[in-house]
Amino acid sequence: MTLIDRYAVFGSPIKHSKSPRIHKIFAEQTGQALEYGAQEVPAGQFPAAVAAFFAGGGKGLNCTIPLKELAWVYADIKTERARISKAVNTLTLQADGSILGDNTDGIGLVTDLMRNHSVTLAGSKILILGAGGASRGIIAPVLEQSVHSIVIANRTIDKAIDLAAEFQKKGSITGCGFDDLKNRQFDLIINATSTSLSGQLPPLPEALLAKNGVCYDLAYSNEPTVFVRWGLGNKALKSLDGLGMLVEQAAEAFFIWRGIRPKTRPVIELLNAERM
Ligand code: ATR
Repeated sequence: MTLIDRYAVFGSPIKHSKSPRIHKIFAEQTGQALEYGAQEVPAGQFPAAVAAFFAGGGKGLNCTIPLKELAWVYADIKTERARISKAVNTLTLQADGSILGDNTDGIGLVTDLMRNHSVTLAGSKILILGAGGASRGIIAPVLEQSVHSIVIANRTIDKAIDLAAEFQKKGSITGCGFDDLKNRQFDLIINATSTSLSGQLPPLPEALLAKNGVCYDLAYSNEPTVFVRWGLGNKALKSLDGLGMLVEQAAEAFFIWRGIRPKTRPVIELLNAERM
């Protein structure tokens, strides 16, 4: 009997996750035989649920809110990008039985910006709003694109300063509060706060976005997020949400597991068409 390779996404809440759908399309497109499910896993049950999944023959797991930091702790070994981001969204069973932790969120963002939306990162002045886990996961991959500089602005200023200090060896990066953004301009503003989920927006001064600047919200929803709307209202060349990043991080996980790169564009187009 041949057992089909099993994968899943764990998180809480998980009901509306698009990951099973995305991986199903990837599998069909590449002719890979696999199953990909979604499981509601509260933080307190995470270690037991992961152990049970792999003991039951599971090959790989995606972990989403609120489990990425726990997955980082769980992984026996970590890739460099996972180690730096202190969060893991992809767990993989290795041939020797160990569990490898990786983080494909940052590369997912960079791929979506550069390949899907033709946004130039090299030489760009970039502002990241927020200094939590979502920000930490994207800083190194963005800095690696020869950007001019990154400013992290956060409500709790010390967190922005501390986070920037961690990455100082990799490029020009500083931290500040929202009040310090007056009279400054950026080519790309990335919203990595959790405000979109509650329909709020950090206090942003006018003229923050440079001419032909781009806005990118890591969150996504069927309706434009409040930050996407802010970008449109501030004449952004493009004001994007994180749907493309979601598909690109999934493609990177699929590649880690299956060694084959699915085409992401048709999947993004399909999911975009469905929310219109
Ligand atoms: P995540 O893992 O999604 O990044 P997190 O680590 O809890 O979640 O971080 C949430 C981020 O959103 C933080 O930068 C937080 O600012 P503080 O560090 O000051 O808490 C930011 N955030 C949440 N609600 C906010 C609000 N109403 N206004 C501005 N920033 C907010």
